[in-house]
Amino acid sequence: MIYSEILKKGSNFLKKNKIKNPHLDTELILSKVTNKKREEILLNANIKLKNRDITNFNNYLFRRYEKEPMAYILGYKHFWKHKFLTNKSVLIPRPDTELVIEQTLKYLPTEKSKKILDVGTGSGCIVLSLIKERPKCRATAIDISKNAINVAKTNAKLHQLENKINFINIDIDKYKSNNYDLIISNPPYINDIELKRLDDEIKFHEPMLALSGGFNGLRDLEKVIVNSKKLLKINGKLILEIGHRQKNQCSKILYENGYYINQISKDLSGKDRCVVSTKLR
Ligand SMILES: C[S@@+](CC[C@H](N)C(=O)[O-])C[C@H]1O[C@@H](n2cnc3c(N)ncnc32)[C@H](O)[C@@H]1O
Repeated sequence: MIYSEILKKGSNFLKKNKIKNPHLDTELILSKVTNKKREEILLNANIKLKNRDITNFNNYLFRRYEKEPMAYILGYKHFWKHKFLTNKSVLIPRPDTELVIEQTLKYLPTEKSKKILDVGTGSGCIVLSLIKERPKCRATAIDISKNAINVAKTNAKLHQLENKINFINIDIDKYKSNNYDLIISNPPYINDIELKRLDDEIKFHEPMLALSGGFNGLRDLEKVIVNSKKLLKINGKLILEIGHRQKNQCSKILYENGYYINQISKDLSGKDRCVVSTKLR
């Protein structure tokens, strides 16, 4: 079978089964199995595939048919300016989360060495992107999932940042080290009702530990806010990604815990998604 034939067969199969982006996904899968760039494949459509590549292609295509996200099939996802390894132990980095990077950079002057904590680091995409932009800073990144910490460590090595970030497998409730200038977190914040309505791609493939914020979605946001009071310096910043309906409840928890709210920023679709706050007392 030649490239053009397998591409046609694959994309028709995905299309028939109502998988989003059937052409692009098929091209990316063929690119992975042949280890060739997409452009190269399209320009050499008459090349014959090896039997081993056909078997691998069919296996990956079947995973896609079962709605496994492309980031897990390919094993990576681009976020901010970099590529991050991803597997089923970590949330797939989202374009929405780039808003947290944009906002956080405003509070990290280029020439200063700040001490940062990333709570619920997952793939490490937030902390690694920040340290790439602000090489004088040092960070700790924690996650309750040991497998997630392993992925984040691998990503740190890939980006040559393993000496600047300390990765710890721990629950935020048990973490005691303090004196941070800035804490960032994209905690799990989806409530039980929204969880049931998520796309199958997310619901059946991404880690529940990274998605579920308890019945009202606020369980982990509250944990991060309460614990950060002990971990931050006075005047230290807490920067949170929130769900698009959590602005009021999140602001209330922040006020009750003695924080001042500096800014709440909207994502590209105009929804409130990032809260910057300061620990006052
Ligand atoms: C929404 S994901 C965010 C991952 C990554 N920071 C990102 O933005 O793509 C939340 C992460 O928090 C971790 N987590 C959940 N509860 C936690 C807890 N109590 N303490 C530390 N990490 C926790 C999960 O394992 C998951 O990796």
